[in-house]
Amino acid sequence: MKYTFVTLFSNLIEGYFSDSILKRARQKNILEIEYLNPRDFSTNKHFKVDDTAVGGGAGMVMNPQPLFDALNHLKNEDEDVHIVFLTPVAKPFRQNDAKRLSKKKHIAFVSGRYEGIDERVVEKYADELFSIGDYILTGGELASLVLCDAISRNIDGVLGNSDSLSVESFETPLLEAPSFSKPQCYDNICVSSEYLKGNHSKIRSLKLAMSECKTKFFRPEQLLKHKVRKSYEK
Ligand code: ADE
Repeated sequence: MKYTFVTLFSNLIEGYFSDSILKRARQKNILEIEYLNPRDFSTNKHFKVDDTAVGGGAGMVMNPQPLFDALNHLKNEDEDVHIVFLTPVAKPFRQNDAKRLSKKKHIAFVSGRYEGIDERVVEKYADELFSIGDYILTGGELASLVLCDAISRNIDGVLGNSDSLSVESFETPLLEAPSFSKPQCYDNICVSSEYLKGNHSKIRSLKLAMSECKTKFFRPEQLLKHKVRKSYEK
């Protein structure tokens, strides 16, 4: 998988690939990272990339020219690149999007700064737009990293143990059951001894009960989905 980050601030991105799982994936050449700075494409003599909004309003909007030229360049290099814009004005990003996008060969993440990006850029180049939640960040960089991380762990070879993918929260409507490491008792709190007895069907039903409990507390609407699904299975 190749990722191209279209951003004015590549330093915000690079650190995330300098440690842990994504660093290893990059070293193994499973991931290739590239940066494209719209400022490098600006025809303005001061390399300006933003201006006040037509019709007034607070804040600066990113001009169309640098982004048109940067994204044209990108598409000339690879006409199959999948271009994703990060903005709060978009559909929410979900686990099924992460899985679907992990099958692509090349994704470009376009991050806006200031008050946003001229809509003509979005209209012309966006294959998809995503929001990572109902709050406003100072720019799309963090959001692009969230997508990149969630997508990457679905690519073969990125995670050490691919088993850990299938039982996770959001693979089913239920949130994942809590995990415990050793020792069995710590600070006078002991993990259920059922875990140690090795009766796998008992452990499964214990985990299911804990999953349902967590889901009921944190995401009641998801529990409803689970119950509807279960009733169809009967
Ligand atoms: N840019 C600013 N806020 C954002 C959000 N919530 N999601 C995606 N991109 C953003």
